[in-house]
Amino acid sequence: FPVAVVLPAGGSGERTGLTTPKQFVTVLNRPLISYTIQAFERVSWIKAIVVVVAKETQDLMQSIVHKFHHVKVKVVQGGSTRHRSIYNGLQALSEQTDGSAFTKPKVVIIHDAVRPFVEEDLLLKVTMAAKDQGASGVIRPLVSTVIATTTEGYLDHSLERAKYRASEMPQGFLYDVICQAYQRCSEFDFEFGTECLHLALHYCNTNAKLIEGLPTQFKVTYKRDLAAVESIFKETLS
Ligand code: C5P
Repeated sequence: FPVAVVLPAGGSGERTGLTTPKQFVTVLNRPLISYTIQAFERVSWIKAIVVVVAKETQDLMQSIVHKFHHVKVKVVQGGSTRHRSIYNGLQALSEQTDGSAFTKPKVVIIHDAVRPFVEEDLLLKVTMAAKDQGASGVIRPLVSTVIATTTEGYLDHSLERAKYRASEMPQGFLYDVICQAYQRCSEFDFEFGTECLHLALHYCNTNAKLIEGLPTQFKVTYKRDLAAVESIFKETLS
């Protein structure tokens, strides 16, 4: 069955403190996003990758696709929030009806451009669970306790850590389910939400199967993470 990927990369990456968005930072002569794309291109059963970028970085992204010979990629313009960017990416998969790789897939995987260490066995688990259940996602145990604070900066309440998990990527969906969820969801979700699984559950009442991920498949958030990525790639390439 056809499987496509939507890779949101339209963020500004403010938390790294760098002027270049982190997905475009060079790690060992290659932009970070190119490693992430490569991880999907290596998987033979994935035929189409939609990369969603901000308007200002569309030309840059096209030049990366060209320079690093990414053949399964289509570049699409993103939106002001992560949800809007993903929505644009999903739309790009319904526009073509000519039977090309970019026509409507059965399952769509959503991943972050800034998670280059995704592996095929995890992608397979997420894809199969999404096909059978409607939606699936990767989770990790929490390293810190999560607390809610008051607007004045005092403790409001804390959550019981053992009951909660961090929601990671990739996530998988039946394409029709996630498209319907985005069509039904409100402007509120678009502006404030970050969780696609929540949308699928809330608006389509689908099951969301959770799969335990590995700590090695981390997300690049801060500058120090880029140094970690570099040393991991150095090790694997040597
Ligand atoms: O901000 P955060 O790190 O959660 O972003 C996760 C992913 O969503 C990143 O790959 C980022 O580029 C993407 N994103 C996007 N469009 C936005 C905001 C974030 O594609 N407007």
